[in-house]
Amino acid sequence: MAIQFTRTLHRLELDFGEMSRLAESALYLHFPGGPKADHELFLQNSSRWWMEFAPRRLVDTIHRWHIDPDRPGVLMIDGLGIDPDLPPTPTDGRRSPNKLTTYSEQVLVAVAGMLGQPIGFSDERNGDLVADLTPVRGKAAALTNEGAGKLGWHIEHNATGFLLDPPVRVVDYLVFFHLREDPRGEARTLVSDIRDVLPLLSPSVIETLRRPEFVLRPPLQVRGSLPVERREALNVAILTGPSENPHVRAAMYGDLTAGLTDAAQAALVELESVLDATQRQVPTTPGRLVLVDNRRVLHARFPYQPAFDGRDRWLQRVMVTTSLEPLRHWQRDSARILSPGA
Ligand SMILES: [Fe+2]
Repeated sequence: MAIQFTRTLHRLELDFGEMSRLAESALYLHFPGGPKADHELFLQNSSRWWMEFAPRRLVDTIHRWHIDPDRPGVLMIDGLGIDPDLPPTPTDGRRSPNKLTTYSEQVLVAVAGMLGQPIGFSDERNGDLVADLTPVRGKAAALTNEGAGKLGWHIEHNATGFLLDPPVRVVDYLVFFHLREDPRGEARTLVSDIRDVLPLLSPSVIETLRRPEFVLRPPLQVRGSLPVERREALNVAILTGPSENPHVRAAMYGDLTAGLTDAAQAALVELESVLDATQRQVPTTPGRLVLVDNRRVLHARFPYQPAFDGRDRWLQRVMVTTSLEPLRHWQRDSARILSPGA
């Protein structure tokens, strides 16, 4: 009998009738300066627009997903549509100056605002609150969100919170909006909820993953601006919290996570193979919104071939933290664009 991995993914499909009011309202709304100008104004305007025009079923589903501790780790919503007259996919990693409407950005920050506080990082994607995740010319092989090759299983900003005392999980949720699929339809995000992984791990591996026998390192974009002595967190456990419902910390690409003992290294290898076995694949369908619980769901990038011809894959993403309070020392030029290294 096939195993059902039910904790990872829940899907909601909206019909055209439900969405028409929101899509039509976006044609007449224009927020000067878009998401780059004044984050607070853009967030407030977008939230007000969203609560007025979004279908009740959609708002209700997101709200209930957010408050339910037993929620599936990923909520995928289809049928949102996209901005009219979407320009070619940018190739320089920056926001396209030809994207004249802000429909997708409004949806992203409004939904992120339902889950907590939308944030970005000054060292990442030009310090934009809404990051345009597109392959960047000259960086296709990069082990970051600028690349297009395989990117292993990870929690977003897995180690960044260890720069704080006491450590916190900085990114609690991720929200993605899919604008354009790659022409070959190969690109996809892989997701797996740790609660679907646990039953397939041996008890000794689970025990090892709970021991502080691992080293975590921040992502490359953040690490560059850190003093050498703060570039890794030693003696950290991968699994924490209740046995049935743990939180997970790992980023299994490059040198971001490593075991400090042979048993710890072997446990990471087994964890990776069970993540592969339990994965759910999320293709880059335009008009799709994907909400990810970054405490329990690891994600990975399936490789694809970018052409840099304006038709490449185009996602947008906002990160969410539950409170800005522990991050106050990283709020330098902006309340939401954080500078951990400065
Ligand atoms: Fe990621």
